[in-house]
Amino acid sequence: MSATLATASYIGATILFILSLGGLSNPESSRRGNLYGMIGMTIAVLATVSGPHVTSAGYAWIVGAMVVGGSIGLYASRVVRMTQMPELVALMHSLVGLAAMLVGFANYIDPAASAEFTGAAKSIHEMEIYIGILIGAVTFTGSVIAFGKLSGKIGGKTLLLPGRHWLNLAGLLVVIWFGREFLHAESISDGMMPLIVMTVISLLFGIHMVMAIGGADMPVVISMLNSYSGWAAAATGFMLSNDLLIVVGALVGSSGAILSYIMCRAMNRNFISVIAGGFGSEGGAPAPTGGVQPAGEVNPILAAETAELLRESKNVIIVPGYGMAVAQAQHTVYEITKVLREKGVNVRFGIHPVAGRMPGHMNVLLAEAKVPYDIVLEMDELNEDFPDTDVAMIIGANDIVNPAAEEDPTSPIAGMPVLQVWKAKTSIVMKRSMATGYAGVDNPLFYKDNNRMLFGDAKKMLDEVLAALKA
Ligand code: TAP
Repeated sequence: MSATLATASYIGATILFILSLGGLSNPESSRRGNLYGMIGMTIAVLATVSGPHVTSAGYAWIVGAMVVGGSIGLYASRVVRMTQMPELVALMHSLVGLAAMLVGFANYIDPAASAEFTGAAKSIHEMEIYIGILIGAVTFTGSVIAFGKLSGKIGGKTLLLPGRHWLNLAGLLVVIWFGREFLHAESISDGMMPLIVMTVISLLFGIHMVMAIGGADMPVVISMLNSYSGWAAAATGFMLSNDLLIVVGALVGSSGAILSYIMCRAMNRNFISVIAGGFGSEGGAPAPTGGVQPAGEVNPILAAETAELLRESKNVIIVPGYGMAVAQAQHTVYEITKVLREKGVNVRFGIHPVAGRMPGHMNVLLAEAKVPYDIVLEMDELNEDFPDTDVAMIIGANDIVNPAAEEDPTSPIAGMPVLQVWKAKTSIVMKRSMATGYAGVDNPLFYKDNNRMLFGDAKKMLDEVLAALKA
């Protein structure tokens, strides 16, 4: 393929990626968005493989790598459960970081690549390598730790080293100093030492940064690492002089940054504080003393009684959370919704921005069950409607309906906007036990007079409710 045709294909792929991002911003157009992305990526891979930079000697390597990578991807797509998606995404981000690191080193030691540049162009190229490896290394270890935390292989508790901000600052200064040494190095072997020292510091910084972030702030970390992986890809694009990689990396980097900002706003967190770490640091601990304390007994309810309450209601709001994903209860939820709507009950869904374990988690599940989009509303769209609601049915959700976020300033999730389900006439929480949610915080909602607990697996209990409704 000629260079001109490759450039034209790259422009086509870029447009498709932009359309893809646009499509993914709305559940109704998300399938189309995915399709655009797939077509764009196919064009990008074909144009690169058959482009002017690849010689025939490289084809065997490329085909071999594509077979191995494609097989792993195919296998993962078949075995990974929906609830494991965030871990998979974190793992994929780590691979982008690792690739940026390896490309950086390969580019530096490749005599052909370094011979292309002289004078100022050489310095700029070396700066691209240095920064590319730095971002790649932070993304790599940060994402591996995020994977460990999300999959429960590493505890969700924060690791707060004494003087951690000073440690980070010292690391930054050392990295800047060695950057200067690297740029002034006479030969590749002279430059290797500063490059390796910087890489080790960046790898350690990635670990330190994510270990210091509390359980409640993990959603922000995921989108932040998503953004980093984009910048790592863009840096790789600079190193390889590949325009498409630069553009796509910048698209991922900036959309990830915007998503992180939106998540921070949704959780009432300060972006910089989250990155600096230590927020939500009480994650995993019981609710602290002071403020609103959970007290008293909980009121259990049976599936048949739940069905009775629902049948007598005019307005019902269903709040799904992570437990609905675990139980795969979305189809039964929709069956119940249909039965109630046929009886004239106004049923709507309230979606919290960080419900579940990844952005849009609940929307994906409800779309899979074919719940109409017009009854699936964002938290801000229906939070004021709870006082006029007869039953708020909470399915496997916990942190996102925790009144302590509003009422207890000492709570680790204080300030996070939540769905005010306790303002409904009756709230019914469906979960298996009194266990805490992701943030590890007790929930005073369970002890309120107007709250009922329907204990059991969400799918099993909802099947019973559906049977009782149909009886
Ligand atoms: P959580 O607060 O984690 O609560 C989920 C509840 O579901 C648990 O208390 C659990 O209680 C229950 N559950 C689990 N399996 C169940 C089953 N089979 N049947 C019925 N219930 C089941 O979830 P949430 O309310 O959706 O809040 C999300 C939390 O995750 C927030 O803290 C958020 O910050 C965090 N987070 C979110 C994201 C994104 S991007 N959305 C990413 C990482 C972390 P039992 O064990 O008693 O059943």
